[in-house]
Amino acid sequence: MSTQTERENVTETGIHGPTSSRFDVLREGAALDDIEIVHYEPQFAVPGGKTERRVVRTIAGFFLLTGLAATVFLVAYIWWPWEFGRQDGAQWFTPILGASLGLALAGLAFGILTWGKKLLPREVSIQQRHTGGSSEQERRITGQTIAYLGEEMGIGRRPLLKFALPLGLAPVGLVAAAPLIGGLIEDPHKNQIPGTETPELYTTGWNPAYNGGKPVRLTRQDGTPIRPEDVSVGGQMTVFPGIPHGSSNEHADSPTLLIHLRTSDADQARAANHRAGREDWMYGDYIAYSKICTHAGCPASLYEQQTNRLLCPCHQSQFLITDNAAPIFGPASRPLPQLEITVDDEGFFVAKRDYTDVIGPDFWERP
Ligand code: FES
Repeated sequence: MSTQTERENVTETGIHGPTSSRFDVLREGAALDDIEIVHYEPQFAVPGGKTERRVVRTIAGFFLLTGLAATVFLVAYIWWPWEFGRQDGAQWFTPILGASLGLALAGLAFGILTWGKKLLPREVSIQQRHTGGSSEQERRITGQTIAYLGEEMGIGRRPLLKFALPLGLAPVGLVAAAPLIGGLIEDPHKNQIPGTETPELYTTGWNPAYNGGKPVRLTRQDGTPIRPEDVSVGGQMTVFPGIPHGSSNEHADSPTLLIHLRTSDADQARAANHRAGREDWMYGDYIAYSKICTHAGCPASLYEQQTNRLLCPCHQSQFLITDNAAPIFGPASRPLPQLEITVDDEGFFVAKRDYTDVIGPDFWERP
């Protein structure tokens, strides 16, 4: 509860009183709203003194660090080489983005925390709860309170912070916009498979253009090719394109699940393939689907042999392998793309051609 003296002061000054300071209005408004300011103490006995200037310099330093780190993020995002395995220094692309963004956000957090703890006055207020709408007077009080808070932040009389705050925050705003405008700066279609005019964006490692125009072999992670007898009935194997760096991040969209179905299941899958106009896409009882979940790109690799369901562990989407890998449960809305397979003259599995559907969570819709 407010003291007698405080209540008298409120009465003498009044919200509209000519001598009312902003703090008077604030205090009176607080009292009318059943808020009692029980303790109010500026951080610094001498405003603008040595200690305050040191704190201001520290905060400005944090904001400038934020601006610098966010600028590094922007520069790296736009100009740093990023094609993993193709360009020198590309392995640093992601770490630089992570480190610079982390530093920017940490600088911003420490700047705000230091401001709140070391620069703003120490204040303790107690508010009684009440109900009902706000009157015109109360709205005016609220407006003045907010303006007062702005004044208390002291930006106007602390030019260093006035300068450091926008300089630190503007690049952070640009960082948020960078992924949106990045595609306008970098032409996503400009990279082509070396020696061809096929744009990389629409291809995976299974595209024959990566193999001199010949079908790409299905290989294990160590690059060894696979024969049909290597996968037992009911079994499955993760396969990668048999090209240089085929199992590396350079072709992270290419991992595929090769499944050897039981004959009765294979018959069902063939019938479903037939419906979809994919009569020759299986090889015998073998079928291959992209391992990249069409929901959010996790590896969908928990294959349940009895039900022929493929489960994605991230959000529990389930795909029915015997029905064109259609999603039958969970958030995924598209079937897993199927890879058209056969065996070559030497008896090893090959992909007849690249995937014809978009891999993973697509950014464009299928034609
Ligand atoms: S990523 Fe597979 S269900 Fe979400």
